[in-house]
Amino acid sequence: MKSTTDFQKMKKENEKIVMLTAYDYPSAKLAEQTGVDVILVGDSLGMVVLGYDSTIPVTLDDMLHHGKAVRRGAKDTCIVIDMPFMTYHLSVRDTLLNAAKLLQETGANAVKVEGADEVLDHIRALTKAGVPVCAHLGLTPQSVGVLGGYKVQGKDRHAALKLLEDAKKCEEAGAFMIVLECVPKQIAREISQALKIPTIGIGAGVDCDGQVLVYHDVLMYGVDRLAKFVKPFANMNVEVQKGLEGYVQEVKQATFPTDAYSFTMKEEELQGLYG
Ligand code: KIV
Ligand code: NA
Repeated sequence: MKSTTDFQKMKKENEKIVMLTAYDYPSAKLAEQTGVDVILVGDSLGMVVLGYDSTIPVTLDDMLHHGKAVRRGAKDTCIVIDMPFMTYHLSVRDTLLNAAKLLQETGANAVKVEGADEVLDHIRALTKAGVPVCAHLGLTPQSVGVLGGYKVQGKDRHAALKLLEDAKKCEEAGAFMIVLECVPKQIAREISQALKIPTIGIGAGVDCDGQVLVYHDVLMYGVDRLAKFVKPFANMNVEVQKGLEGYVQEVKQATFPTDAYSFTMKEEELQGLYG
């Protein structure tokens, strides 16, 4: 299993870091088998698994439930787990207790929190308490209401400078990794060069130290619309639909199950059995 320092070494040696989300046993197992470097139990599970239209309704209990399943599927992969909405904004004490619960009950290795500013004190306290923290800047979906939608961030000079400053502050506060979501590729490259910790991009260009995508987006599984920055590497919608249609059809036509899928007993045992 890769450690937080391994990721910094990968950055130094120009080896790209592959992060992928997973939310349950099978997705985690396949991610581990494929050699994904780090699994993110993202609160995007609210959308792609639970059917909410944002990450805001996701609770700590949801994250615990899914995080445990992910660890059972990927026993030997570094797991980062999202702290959900409003679980790291009250007192630092609350933040520490919530993070402890996430790591202790799921077996995840690190937490991820969105934003800088008032969150910096929490990143610092978590790191001091022994909880590795992945920061998340740019488009921070838990603030979608304040940002006014899912839009590219840091597009003007002022916003781009603030993004760079925030990234540096996250590193200073102790973050071991930082996700950059939906920022112009030039800004992401600048930030990646300015920081010692690795940057993981999503909609942030190829010059980040690694990339992250949502499992269901990569496989186009149960999602109909993909954001501009998502490249689907398979189409599970088509495969699943094909499979389910075949099943429905064969049950209706009674062509399934054939003898190959049935159990039989010897004819002599049946003699007179039912009178
Ligand atoms: O929840 C999530 O999947 C995320 C990634 C998109 C970075 O936070
Ligand atoms: Na998230």
